[in-house]
Amino acid sequence: MNKNMLVTGSSQGIGLSIAKYFANNFNVYITGRYKNKLEKLCTENNFAGFIDIDLSDDNAAEMLYKRLNKNIDILINNAGVYQYSPIEKMTHKEIINSVMLNTIAPFELMKHAVPCMKEQKWGRIINIGSISGVMGEANASLYSMTKASLTGLTKATALELALDNITVNIINPGWVDTDLINNENLERDFTKEEIIETIPQRRYVLPEEIAKACEYLISDGARTVTGQCINICAGLSLGF
Ligand SMILES: NC(=O)c1ccc[n+]([C@@H]2O[C@H](COP(=O)([O-])OP(=O)(O)OC[C@H]3O[C@@H](n4cnc5c(N)ncnc54)[C@H](OP(=O)(O)O)[C@@H]3O)[C@@H](O)[C@H]2O)c1
Repeated sequence: MNKNMLVTGSSQGIGLSIAKYFANNFNVYITGRYKNKLEKLCTENNFAGFIDIDLSDDNAAEMLYKRLNKNIDILINNAGVYQYSPIEKMTHKEIINSVMLNTIAPFELMKHAVPCMKEQKWGRIINIGSISGVMGEANASLYSMTKASLTGLTKATALELALDNITVNIINPGWVDTDLINNENLERDFTKEEIIETIPQRRYVLPEEIAKACEYLISDGARTVTGQCINICAGLSLGF
């Protein structure tokens, strides 16, 4: 079977790394908000296509699925936004935007992908959560909440789809050196060097290391691995 893989938020960072890693094995479809950027990536890499869409918009997942117009065999829900702010300063707009992108879009994409997966009795769904959804992160309550919700979604649907040969798992990365954490607009009171000091292995996780974990979860060898939370965090979830 020539499998179709959809990786959301694949214009850069972890998502792009996953897309590149699998470009020669599957028909990989990438997504992001900016058409020119995605077009260029498709030209430079062996991707099957792209969909430019803002996944925080109403009905975005439905629109994406319609525009893709293909069955999704492997769904990687990766697009996400990180907000760093004390809870009392979080605006309603920021709350809605994060919930739409980090929680509702993955839920709705799963909803659209599952019927075909059930019919063909094969499917792989990987949600990209965060260690912040496993442990609390001060001043990232919104992010922690949305990422923790993906764990509930993962476990419930893994149970629901257990007899359909569809696995659903969540990968929780620790600190990965991407634009998400290098964003200059984040008003944080600690530096990248100070972050390293809090990581037991004293190193960032590489985007490729997340891709390799996806490779395992997609493989036949992992067909009994479902509903699991896999922390890829250089020891961060263990404490200090
Ligand atoms: N980096 C870390 O330390 C870390 C740690 C734990 C978990 N994670 C999670 O890993 C995932 C990827 O993170 P990353 O570090 O690779 O982030 P990134 O470099 O900021 O990339 C985010 C991706 O999401 C897309 N995106 C952002 N807002 C979007 C929107 N409204 N609609 C559609 N697409 C949107 C971006 O595309 P465009 O900007 O081109 O639209 C981009 O492709 C996220 O879910 C993040 O929460 C990251």
